[in-house]
Amino acid sequence: MRNPKAGRQQLTSPLVKGAAVICAILAILVIIGGIVVSAIYTNYHPKMPYIKVADAHLNTLDYDQSGLLDTEMALTILAENDNIKAHASFSDASFNIRFHGIKIAELRTAPFDVPKNSSFPIYYLVPSSSIPLDQMGMEAMDMALKQGIVPFSLDGQARTRWKVIFLSARFWTHLSCELRFFWPNGTVVNPLGCRSRVH
Ligand SMILES: *[C@@H]1O[C@H](CO)[C@@H](O)[C@H](O)[C@H]1NC(C)=O
Ligand SMILES: *[C@@H]1O[C@H](CO)[C@@H](O)[C@H](O)[C@H]1NC(C)=O
Repeated sequence: MRNPKAGRQQLTSPLVKGAAVICAILAILVIIGGIVVSAIYTNYHPKMPYIKVADAHLNTLDYDQSGLLDTEMALTILAENDNIKAHASFSDASFNIRFHGIKIAELRTAPFDVPKNSSFPIYYLVPSSSIPLDQMGMEAMDMALKQGIVPFSLDGQARTRWKVIFLSARFWTHLSCELRFFWPNGTVVNPLGCRSRVH
């Protein structure tokens, strides 16, 4: 008497067996990949490093009817690394300060590192002298001085890099915001909303 079970086993071709083995291996790889990714996430909580304006003050503003603008601005930019287990490095950081679209200063910073879970302050004392405003710029400045609030724009970017074990991520983070100062006292209106994003 033949065993009916043995007969059925012979119907499974080597091809089907091979496919089943490959499927099982793929499933295991997917599971291992998921475990590794979630382990990295729960252990390292990777977070995008970013740049923000921590403080700003308008020290001087001289403007005459010939349209020449002299200013001095103190600006503190903070590079933030909220990763609790990875340090981040920043390079190619550069920022522009404009009034009514006219560039009045350009800021650059040498590459720097930010240790894990900390931040790195960059202090700028931005002088700009005798920037000629165009007609529209002069009108905007007259209006701003009348209202007692002078708006400047700050834009720029930095390249950031950070590493979690063997994974290294690099990207550009972009900053674009308006800095408004009470004048004549030079107090910044609200710098806290000014932080960079990854596009
Ligand atoms: C990160 O820094 C904050 C304050 O700077 C501190 O309260 C916190 O305990 C630190 N976290 C770790 C994991 O070191
Ligand atoms: C600067 O002036 C504005 C408006 O007049 C006022 O609200 C603000 O408190 C002043 N800041 C300081 C530090 O005196």
